Amino acid sequence: MQIIKEYVEENRQRFLHELFELLRFQSVSADPKYKDEVLKTADFVADKLKNSGANHVEVCPTEGYPIVYGEKIIDSSLPTVLVYGHYDVQPPDPIELWETPPFEPTLRDGKIYARGACDDKGQFYMHVKAFELMVHTNTLPCNIKFMIEGEEEVGSDNLGKFVAQNKERLKADVVLISDTSMISMENPSIETGLRGLAYMEVEVQGPIKDLHSGVYGGAVANPATILCQMIASLHDEHNHITIPGFYDGVINLSEEERKSLNDAPFDLEEYKKELSIDDVWGEAGYSTIERTGIRPTLEVNGIWGGYTGPGAKTVLPAKANAKISMRLVPGQDWRKISELFKNHFESIAPKSVKVKVIAHHGGTPYVTPTNSIAFKAAYKAIKDSFGKEPVPTRGGGSIPIVALFEEELGIKTVLMGFGLDSDSLHSPNEKYDVFNYYKGIETIPLFHKYFAEMSK
Ligand code: BES
Ligand code: MN
Ligand code: MN
Repeated sequence: MQIIKEYVEENRQRFLHELFELLRFQSVSADPKYKDEVLKTADFVADKLKNSGANHVEVCPTEGYPIVYGEKIIDSSLPTVLVYGHYDVQPPDPIELWETPPFEPTLRDGKIYARGACDDKGQFYMHVKAFELMVHTNTLPCNIKFMIEGEEEVGSDNLGKFVAQNKERLKADVVLISDTSMISMENPSIETGLRGLAYMEVEVQGPIKDLHSGVYGGAVANPATILCQMIASLHDEHNHITIPGFYDGVINLSEEERKSLNDAPFDLEEYKKELSIDDVWGEAGYSTIERTGIRPTLEVNGIWGGYTGPGAKTVLPAKANAKISMRLVPGQDWRKISELFKNHFESIAPKSVKVKVIAHHGGTPYVTPTNSIAFKAAYKAIKDSFGKEPVPTRGGGSIPIVALFEEELGIKTVLMGFGLDSDSLHSPNEKYDVFNYYKGIETIPLFHKYFAEMSK
């Protein structure tokens, strides 16, 4: 513990400086205009892995963005930890709402503001620096492999193929990921679940062209109105989702499990205040913690159609569109849910319009074991460094590749995230506390230490 603290103390400024360098790359995977920047980020990460002590660092090309791989094998009889993270980030829009530019990391009140500060550059880079620390202080207790990808925010399609084709190379005893949240720094927690995802896009087509709303309005179906009606019908008065078969197979938690989930510290008033809402919303019969952790949901991510420019234009638009996603829980299969959605959405369309539904990416939900050596090692590491026992929670977000690690490689994952839900992931003014960054760098070596010790 002392060695760790000293090394972090001595290298504090450089650790932060390097993260800032990483944050300056505009590695937005969703938008092709950032392509060069994304590629440069991969090279930067590879370079840093090399400098930090990894051997066989490789920028592995894929049909999309490359995967950065690096490893240090010290003894084949020791356990191996596979660290996964992503160097790509979400688009910075709406850019005008950022107080300081998204790709010019800025320190304010002990917080790093930048796109990717928390998700996931700040978090995966803690592992790179913790690794450097272990190599330089001669305390690396196990083998370590890094796999940092550039397409997490767009569904990790090519990583799936890479994993399937590199089973031997990726052999490990556990996957360790910091890409999730804690309740707060005073209430450390470990997420034990990720939700799955089914992402859809719909188009409602009315007349062949935009029409004068005075001449045709009232006599021809307005696709924007119809789309709103269709979307509204996807929830009933209890906010249950109305797609037939949607809840089939959903694994319900026992009363005891639900109670222990709800025992986690959570302040509803604080939650509302922070989001500036007067009330919460959601499926009847479930608490906010349950609604975001163990229940499936359906959200409209975007909706457009017709005239949205300045002033007024009286028009009956030819079409209207929406992007709709569903978060899934264990027992639900995203391919089947996508199919159910498509069939249902087509079936509720009135004859006056034509509907097109396309399925984008999906992801399988995942629940981590809590009785594994790796989970216990993470628990003990956090307890040591925070001075408080972590609470297990269920995360609402998705990291689709995690289920695949288990399916393809047979390896289970530990989610040792240090972010906060209030870090504004995917939102303007994303941040990461400098405190969390260093705390993570100090906690990670403890994980490796305990994992190696307990594996003996
Ligand atoms: N790191 C997040 C997932 C996350 C955030 C998990 C907070 C738990 C708590 C990840 O980068 C992410 O945003 N995933 C996407 C899915 C992807 C297919 C676009 C998501 O959850 O929307
Ligand atoms: Mn992430
Ligand atoms: Mn993300």
